[in-house]
Amino acid sequence: MSIAVQIDRNGGPEVMQLVDVQVGEPGPGEIRIRHKAIGLNFIDVYQRSGLYALPMPLKLGMEASGIVEAVGEGVTHLQVADRAAYASQPPGSYCEVRVMPAKCVCKLPDAISFETGAAMMLKGLTAQYLLRRTLPVEGLGKGDFVLFHAAAGGVGLIACQWAKALGLRLIGTAGSDAKCQLAKDNGAEFCINYSTEDFAARVKDITGGQGVKVVYDSVGKDTWDKSLDCLRPFGLMASFGNASGAVAAFAPGLLGNKGSLYVTRQTLFSHITTRERTQAMADELFDVVLSGQVKIHIDQTFALAQVQEAHRALEARKTTGCTILTL
Ligand SMILES: NC(=O)c1ccc[n+]([C@@H]2O[C@H](COP(=O)([O-])OP(=O)(O)OC[C@H]3O[C@@H](n4cnc5c(N)ncnc54)[C@H](OP(=O)(O)O)[C@@H]3O)[C@@H](O)[C@H]2O)c1
Repeated sequence: MSIAVQIDRNGGPEVMQLVDVQVGEPGPGEIRIRHKAIGLNFIDVYQRSGLYALPMPLKLGMEASGIVEAVGEGVTHLQVADRAAYASQPPGSYCEVRVMPAKCVCKLPDAISFETGAAMMLKGLTAQYLLRRTLPVEGLGKGDFVLFHAAAGGVGLIACQWAKALGLRLIGTAGSDAKCQLAKDNGAEFCINYSTEDFAARVKDITGGQGVKVVYDSVGKDTWDKSLDCLRPFGLMASFGNASGAVAAFAPGLLGNKGSLYVTRQTLFSHITTRERTQAMADELFDVVLSGQVKIHIDQTFALAQVQEAHRALEARKTTGCTILTL
């Protein structure tokens, strides 16, 4: 048996309930993992609220670390007693123990704690595919400007540090002066408080009127229009989230008028479809964490039973860096 967080309808944090569930043996391609820590992500909010519609009842959570307890037929990269961590579908990581596909589960290096492992997989693999694989047609090189919204958040603080390590000039945005300072302390060269400042005007100023090569935008509705104005010709609008709400439909002619811009909507789950690709991305993430180039900030910790409180804090923009749920 395991305690798990389940919803039977979409709604606010109150719809999340702790339930007892039966946990069986892993089938082919699966493992059973006993969690040590669980990562909280904004996608959990979208799945709970119904912005991303999934069948009910639904167990929540996409990220965790733990110890492998049992291994199904055909799984060769993991063994019983291995330390492991993952970002993975299907949801269901808010629990003590679960059976799940092994494909996206990676061995966790000994020097990375379970807490850090749980905090960094979904957010760190996202930062990896954004900065390393979601590139403008002209490429990205040392000294190039990029704009990264919500720079003091979970994905944001990892991206600030990783961008600096890559030699990029990252301009962040965040919702308070304190969050802006945190982003700058973690490698953002500039950070704009978009609650009080016109970020498009500031980006134009900072870049001498040129604009940035890429905007990485997870805020969505509230930042979309102005973000297009931050791009230089042939720049890339990389949308990867909707913390403020979904982006409205738009006519592609707009992209021509603004300098033949490119737009992409990315999701991690297109990048981690194979074991090999997932491991290659995780290896890069482990390297930057183990070398100290990227520090994983766990700024909030809640017990699993306090999951409603954790969601409220995340949605109210009261968190910075990563948040974990403990068992
Ligand atoms: N597509 C993918 O593959 C993928 C993968 C991982 C994450 N994501 C997305 O990346 C974003 C960051 O994820 P995360 O888990 O690290 O969360 P997070 O950045 O720690 O939290 C979200 C942040 O968004 C900002 N925000 C702006 N407007 C908001 C609003 N109306 N309501 C709530 N927050 C708002 C807040 O920062 P400020 O107060 O500074 O504005 C808030 O702290 C999310 O949108 C998530 O969905 C996408």
